[in-house]
Amino acid sequence: MAREIGIGMVSLGWMGQLHTRAYRRLFDHYPGCALKPRLVVAADVADGARENAERLGYEGWTDDWREVVEHPDVEAVSITAPNFLHCEIAVAAAKAGKHIWLEKPCGRFPGETFEIGEAIEEAGVKSMIGLMYRHAPTVEYARKIIAAGELGEITHYRGYFLADYSADPHGALTWRFKDEYGGLGVLGDIMPHAADMAQNLIGPIAGVSAQRETFIRERVEAPMGASHFSVVEGGEMGAVENEDYASSLVRFENGARGTLETSRVCVGPHVRMSFEVNGTRGALSWDFERLNELKLYRMDGEDEHGYKTVYAGPGMGDFAGFQPGAGISMGYDDLKVIEAERFLSSIAEGRQREPGIREIVSTMRVVGAMDRSCDTGRWESVGEMAEEAGGRRNGGGT
Ligand SMILES: NC(=O)c1ccc[n+]([C@@H]2O[C@H](COP(=O)([O-])OP(=O)(O)OC[C@H]3O[C@@H](n4cnc5c(N)ncnc54)[C@H](O)[C@@H]3O)[C@@H](O)[C@H]2O)c1
Repeated sequence: MAREIGIGMVSLGWMGQLHTRAYRRLFDHYPGCALKPRLVVAADVADGARENAERLGYEGWTDDWREVVEHPDVEAVSITAPNFLHCEIAVAAAKAGKHIWLEKPCGRFPGETFEIGEAIEEAGVKSMIGLMYRHAPTVEYARKIIAAGELGEITHYRGYFLADYSADPHGALTWRFKDEYGGLGVLGDIMPHAADMAQNLIGPIAGVSAQRETFIRERVEAPMGASHFSVVEGGEMGAVENEDYASSLVRFENGARGTLETSRVCVGPHVRMSFEVNGTRGALSWDFERLNELKLYRMDGEDEHGYKTVYAGPGMGDFAGFQPGAGISMGYDDLKVIEAERFLSSIAEGRQREPGIREIVSTMRVVGAMDRSCDTGRWESVGEMAEEAGGRRNGGGT
């Protein structure tokens, strides 16, 4: 019999609604889960937030996130607010002894991620971070193949997150483009996905040599709560304060070499969150736009060369909880249901599952080194974080 766990939600934007749907669907896919989410209270300041909270099934609503964090019936908090609120809310939640499911990038800059990390470690609460591409069954399968050495020694890695959500110059100037609210541009928004995936599959990144650019320097101002997918014709223009594009050469600790490339203004791909891994005995590649497929090539000495397509199926990751047979597609929201399960099972079982705060701290060390490298124009080591990375300000194209 599952025990009820009180859930508090901070923000009901895109991710807040997705976390909520994930909690609501948890038992459909994981009937054996030891914890049953009870949606206690949600906070948001947008027009219509109270109605949204009711529609989504929350017992209560507030416009003050502190009431969520301090609520006695709330044992676990989802933090899906814009980046500028992550640190303050997560530190307060950790101090209040709440378990935390926090969206990437966990703060505006790496320094804020480290502050959150310290608070969570000190409080001893469990954490889960929104790096959900890891949970795709085909990605889990790829990880297993690489870890088992089936591709031989890994020599090359290329990771991408090429998006077009702001490719239209009329795309709204939302909080994501502003230093004060978003912090880093794509280095914070999507590079964490690409860098985490690289480390998840290949191991720690030791050094980076990065560059960034802002291609569209002005956009039409949009109110808080406006979607970053929205397109606005006419209105007051404001400055884009962080980078549209960032890429980096990367050197892994195990000697593999590679590249990571991210953009929010790349015309052509929509969400090309993808990777290609080459080893001495084989290769594989995956693209979120074809979530259920893995391209796999094994150099097994036969005459047939080239990649073959392997479809997601019941033997891979958590697939069997979602679909009964190979080739029946899973989708984006499903990855978040898996993430919810990882979060609640961490709490129920008292063991921290990945990716928790340690993984995002490690990822933001890589991002911090890229940020420094963009400024210095040199290779930078990924080590213990330099103080200055936390306080860094400018984001424009250097
Ligand atoms: N894991 C992923 O792939 C992924 C995808 C998208 C977004 N995210 C992350 O999720 C977070 C939210 O992004 P989003 O796309 O959902 O943003 P969004 O703009 O859709 O929603 C943000 C919400 O926060 C609310 N808000 C603003 N100030 C608030 C306050 N003081 N108290 C409570 N609520 C407040 C807004 O009203 C809005 O509803 C960001 O950190 C983003 O990086 C992660």
